[in-house]
Amino acid sequence: MAFAAPRRTSLSAMLADIHHAVAGDAPGCPRRVAAAIHAYLHDPELLDGIACPSCPNGYIRHLLHADSSGRYAVVALVWRPGQMSPVHAHRTWCALGVHRGVLSEAFYDLPEGNSSPCQTATLLRGQGAVSFGPADLRTIHRLANLGTAEAVSIHVYGASFDRFGQDVNHLF
Ligand SMILES: [Fe+2]
Repeated sequence: MAFAAPRRTSLSAMLADIHHAVAGDAPGCPRRVAAAIHAYLHDPELLDGIACPSCPNGYIRHLLHADSSGRYAVVALVWRPGQMSPVHAHRTWCALGVHRGVLSEAFYDLPEGNSSPCQTATLLRGQGAVSFGPADLRTIHRLANLGTAEAVSIHVYGASFDRFGQDVNHLF
């Protein structure tokens, strides 16, 4: 008797590519993970079968995969129009890509002696766009959905999911 092999979904293929990308040398990790995500962002079936509801109170994270060793976790973020992250920097490496909609990414400087970051630039991140970086408390940004349609982005952070609250975002 022969059994059909389980269908390799777009999500499982992306997760396998991310896992492979994390295994390489540490300095190149965020760039490799961003490239791994990028290859799947235009696939409309990427999140088929995954419940990713939006939330009226703010953008929301849905866990897609937690590495069994706790080295990283993959989440989908769902943004209603007008929802945005706090202004923050990252305590860990990260990579993200836009799967649906358009996000705006604002960057900030923290001038010496100031406690409030000053916005210096804004980039539009449309479907298929990626962004990535190492752990760096001087790279300060904010993601926002300033469009009129819901947006979904895929994020990978170098921390276990149960430590996202402490180990990912440094808020300003
Ligand atoms: Fe961030």
